[in-house]
Amino acid sequence: MDFSTKTFDSKNAIAQAKAGCIAVGVFENGKLPQAAQALDRKGEVTAALKSGDISGKPGTTLLMRDPDGAVAERILLVGLGKEEPISDKNYSSAAQSIARIFSSLGAGDAIVALPFDGIANRDVAWAIRNSVLAARDNLYRFDDMKSTKEPAPGGVRKVAFAVSAADANAAKAAVGEGVALANGMDLTKNLGNLPPNICNPTYLANTAKKLGKEYGIGVEVLDRKQLQALKMGSFLSVTNGSDEPPKFIVMKHMGGKAKDAPTVLVGKGITFDSGGISLKPGSGMDEMKYDMCGAASVLGTFRAIAEMKLKLNVIGVIPTCENMPSGRATRPGDIVTSMSGQTIEVLNTDAEGRLILCDALTYVERFKPAAVVDVATLTGACITALGHHNSGLFTRHDDAHDALAEQLLSAGKTANDTAWRMPIEDSYQEQLKSNFADVANIGGPPAGSITAACFLERFTKKYTWAHLDIAGTAWKSGAAKGATGRPVPLLTTFLINRAQAASAK
Ligand code: BES
Ligand code: MN
Ligand code: ZN
Repeated sequence: MDFSTKTFDSKNAIAQAKAGCIAVGVFENGKLPQAAQALDRKGEVTAALKSGDISGKPGTTLLMRDPDGAVAERILLVGLGKEEPISDKNYSSAAQSIARIFSSLGAGDAIVALPFDGIANRDVAWAIRNSVLAARDNLYRFDDMKSTKEPAPGGVRKVAFAVSAADANAAKAAVGEGVALANGMDLTKNLGNLPPNICNPTYLANTAKKLGKEYGIGVEVLDRKQLQALKMGSFLSVTNGSDEPPKFIVMKHMGGKAKDAPTVLVGKGITFDSGGISLKPGSGMDEMKYDMCGAASVLGTFRAIAEMKLKLNVIGVIPTCENMPSGRATRPGDIVTSMSGQTIEVLNTDAEGRLILCDALTYVERFKPAAVVDVATLTGACITALGHHNSGLFTRHDDAHDALAEQLLSAGKTANDTAWRMPIEDSYQEQLKSNFADVANIGGPPAGSITAACFLERFTKKYTWAHLDIAGTAWKSGAAKGATGRPVPLLTTFLINRAQAASAK
């Protein structure tokens, strides 16, 4: 799909535009946004609303062929809800409807002329990014592993967003950002959807190296020997049962000022989580190939910010391995020594994500980070708590961390990829007491997502840190089984906002 912007004004009227289709918005109250008015010279649009052919309710559509009011071959009317200002939710439904209809339209090119500047609390750039993402999400297919590929969908191949001259620059930049974000999400989805016999730790490391070559990202991959030298006893304990070698990926996008402290992303990269000796039940175990979606979202975010040439220093760190049972696997009861020196009693080998993350969180101290955000499909308990709507957001509760939490929450809202804040308190830390080591790796059934975060918190004392539990949001089960690409939109928007703040300093 090819996206561009086109400037329209009184001289270059939208009614005169040549295109296979022009999509314009309509309101339930019968009022027409500017573009719809311009195409209503013969009253066709008004008549369609009056007759009830289209209600104007958010996301409803009506396709009109050979319209009298426009040179274009078709007009697609799209409902935007009651009236201006348009809610971001209603705009999103309209954008999704347009994406769906465009993908099976007998036209190759189209113009989208929605009131991009009429959305409550959002700007033109937001609207255009949203539309690009809706179109790309609609087109996404994963058939790499099928012997017969689905035929490429027909439909609209070229989309131009109609904007005023005043908005042209912002709109053009937004198209670039939307495409970069969609490319990042596609990478994340592909990695999540690939089977674990292909997408193993080495595959993730090679993906990072390839990104590095393509976009000039610095990439370093540490192997088992180097991890042993770093004394990552906790991470390495998870790899004991697997024949696949572990990898520790470090990526650097240094787009900011040399002196600026980096923002660090850490992603859980368990390419298959069998549970280890604390073996998971068989049914649905295939879904544990998605246990590297934290890693995949760090890779996808790097792809997006690199393509955007984001002016910010960002470091990505990915500990990646398999969690498998074997005669050499870590046993429940084993005590391991983490890179931080803290000893950990492994009471359940299925609580492995925190064991690989804690060493990565100690490793990143060396970067003197401005902030560290780890991203992990960490707990089933987070799905119980928040379902599939919100990622769980955990930080300490002080001013610096409240500010970081606010940045992440608001980025999530902007990107339509929301998170919900959960508590971290000393009372929960008590559940992690071990009779034999400094800390246990599980805290019992109550508040499982919180005790997991509390475990990580013990390794993050030296910097400002947040943890995103994406167990419920990174993929869908059931008929639509597959990776969602979340939380790449949240993370990318968070970094864009930080880059803006840094350049304003
Ligand atoms: N990868 C899982 C968490 C998970 C479960 C993600 C379901 C997505 C869907 C994690 O490694 C795990 O197994 N966690 C255990 C922790 C428990 C043993 C304390 C869990 O959630 O059951
Ligand atoms: Mn597990
Ligand atoms: Zn896991």
